[in-house]
Amino acid sequence: MVDLSTSLCGVKLDNPVIPASGTFGFGYEFNDIYDINILGAISIKGTTKEPRFGNPTPRIAECTEGLINSIGLQNPGVDKVISYEIPKLRECYRKPIISNISGFSIEEYVECCQKMNEVKDVDIIELNISCPNVHNGGMSFGTQPENAQGVVEAVRKVTTKPLFVKLTPNVTDIVSIAKACEQGGADGISLINTSQGMRIDLKKRRPIIANKIGGFSGRAIFPIALKMVYQVYDAVKIPIMGIGGVASAEDVVEMMMAGASAVQVGAENLVNPYACRDIINNLPQVMKKYNINSLKDIIGEAHK
Ligand code: FUM
Repeated sequence: MVDLSTSLCGVKLDNPVIPASGTFGFGYEFNDIYDINILGAISIKGTTKEPRFGNPTPRIAECTEGLINSIGLQNPGVDKVISYEIPKLRECYRKPIISNISGFSIEEYVECCQKMNEVKDVDIIELNISCPNVHNGGMSFGTQPENAQGVVEAVRKVTTKPLFVKLTPNVTDIVSIAKACEQGGADGISLINTSQGMRIDLKKRRPIIANKIGGFSGRAIFPIALKMVYQVYDAVKIPIMGIGGVASAEDVVEMMMAGASAVQVGAENLVNPYACRDIINNLPQVMKKYNINSLKDIIGEAHK
């Protein structure tokens, strides 16, 4: 029997596969098609202080081996997520819940985090300072080390839960940002969010996405994500959740060898809603193929 288990800051996961925020709703929607208790954890839809309708449509453009999105953090707001969405998820799901939080000011991040800190069903907070699709917030906190450290320090003061910070790849030096987050009190790093991109409709001669530019994700960005996980693993002492283009059990193993303690699956859920289930089912045979008895043993192995 191979051992798929892993852990994130003391939170035990049966396996490392986690649907990424924004690609899996609040989780319970998928319980209609398979038992979501097979998942390692779920990172639920990104939450802001106020309800958000999101960006104008079209918000999605397909690309070779990926897609561009510009959703604009559509969500019902933190109070509704706490009073309705998380309890509804709990009705059908017993495993760890990761709450992904976004904001437009430090005060908003702090308020959301303070509220989520009171929710016993939330196991980990994932501070999203990397959304490329909103102005005056999101990614603007994650592109300078001092800004990243500032928001992490503020949020750290109001939560005792494990605090992961989700970083953007749209920077020149991911290592300095990850280190600033660690310095600010983060317990872990989630990387990467989407890379900025765009498409043009040839008939209309205009950008496909109403917001013109969006976040590019999917299989095409896997090598970029892997490289950043590898670099950050060398530079920080806190655990990493690897995200970006993961689409197979082999990708999970590769991410973990680069340094990830757990792995999020994002765009692939939109291509194949069974992606996480299929990856989990395939992991044992891939582990056997590569003589891996325990996934915990391969975290960061590519650095030795
Ligand atoms: O547009 C969006 O809601 C994307 C969010 C994100 O990439 O974090």
